[in-house]
Amino acid sequence: MAKKIDPCTLVLFGASGNLSRIKLMPGLFRLDAAGRLPEHMVILSVGRGEVSREDWQADVKGMLDAKFKNGYDQKVFERFIARNHYHSNPPTDPDAMNKLQAKLSDESVFPQNLAYFLSVRPTDFAPIVAQLAEVGLVDESKYWRRVLIEKPFGTDLPSAQALQTELTKYLKESQIYRIDHYLGKSALQNVMLTRFANAMFEPLWNNEHIDHVQITNNETLGVGDRTTFYDATGALRDMVQSHLLQTLALVAMEKPTDLSPESIRAEKIKLLESIRPIPVNELNKHAFRAQYKAGRVEAGDGHGENVTGYLEELARDGITESVTETYAALKLFIDNPRWKGVPFYVRTAKRMHEGNTAISIRFKKAPMQLVEGQHQNWLTLNIQPRECIKMEIESKIPGLDIATRTLSIDGPQRQQGDETIDSYESLMLNLMEGDPSLYLHISEVEAQWRLVDPVVKAWMVDKSPVHQYPAGSRDPQESSVIFESEDQFWRYSIELGGDKH
Ligand code: BG6
Repeated sequence: MAKKIDPCTLVLFGASGNLSRIKLMPGLFRLDAAGRLPEHMVILSVGRGEVSREDWQADVKGMLDAKFKNGYDQKVFERFIARNHYHSNPPTDPDAMNKLQAKLSDESVFPQNLAYFLSVRPTDFAPIVAQLAEVGLVDESKYWRRVLIEKPFGTDLPSAQALQTELTKYLKESQIYRIDHYLGKSALQNVMLTRFANAMFEPLWNNEHIDHVQITNNETLGVGDRTTFYDATGALRDMVQSHLLQTLALVAMEKPTDLSPESIRAEKIKLLESIRPIPVNELNKHAFRAQYKAGRVEAGDGHGENVTGYLEELARDGITESVTETYAALKLFIDNPRWKGVPFYVRTAKRMHEGNTAISIRFKKAPMQLVEGQHQNWLTLNIQPRECIKMEIESKIPGLDIATRTLSIDGPQRQQGDETIDSYESLMLNLMEGDPSLYLHISEVEAQWRLVDPVVKAWMVDKSPVHQYPAGSRDPQESSVIFESEDQFWRYSIELGGDKH
């Protein structure tokens, strides 16, 4: 059921950046089209450039045209475009925030409940909040004021804690919305419901029945034009520290007492804090990294495309050497009675043979083994591109002999006519509703950094050549050193099945 949203102004910092153009503006438009924006809701885009309101509105129209190639409802467009305002905030203007405050003080145009979306460089998060506070724009004595902080929240534990200290000089915890856009994905939200709204899964969801869990995010894309950012970050910090550890938390946490934000976050925090620290003295058994080299990837239209390697991409931008990983795989253990001894393999990579995000769970050997190497049951919760649940079970081949084969029961989670809501759309709605359940608590962020920091550090100082994999290939064979037992192997997408190397 739709929650009530107070009249509000969404102040979008970094409005002319890619995230805003490709996701946020079109997302807000779709929320408007779905009737989910309150009548009195205004979008104030803040950018560095001097742009008139009319020019900005024309720019916004261009963003919508680019996103919705099949056109869109003109009536909704008129309503949406009228919500859009622009404010120029040049970094060189010492008076910029006062001007913003003066603009926002016009209550006839701007509802005074303010939601700030900081889609800016991470180094600007704290200064912007401090400046907003100086001119009274985060004061909640009459209206609510909320601040959405984009990822990454820090680059390690100390910097995340320093950012937190800065923010809490001006904001209460209830005003801070730390985003992880994976939590806005409907298929990921379904993990919790699959577990707790079905009687058939939860009794098996433990070390008595589960052999191991794989959490995978593979992409065919390379690092694109983000070379400098990516090289200072790497796959572990870019994907594992955030999206994949959040996914793991949802898969492994205990049942929350209820669905309130506090209860869900409390269980996720408990789980994240009970992941065993990765032993850096035997890192090679627990973590594997690699970089893509030149190769050939699927280009979406079914054809192949030759692409350059990571180091060549860096060289083009003047970076001459790098040990930064574009492939990272970790083996994690959770120190609690439910998961004792069950490895969780978490992996992510750019430039793989396929783009797929999934949770694959392998069950232990069945009580009856008819042939050697009998297929073990798998349950896969596929997050993207397909949202579905797949179960693999052994079943008798009809006939005179006793023999089994693997049946795949594949249930699409998405059905015709279902709402297609992008993760940013649902999270922006939650921000305006004041529902932080799908946003991160600082303790989650801290636990996630605490876990990956030692590996990031160890990898940074180890300058020995990093393993190279051809773009468009499957996991490097060498990555299997992290497996606990020889019969474990990487799973691929539903279509490709569970090929062994
Ligand atoms: C971002 C990372 O947070 O998530 C990117 O910085 C990555 O490197 C992206 O490609 C993946 O998100 P999605 O929603 O496309 O799976």
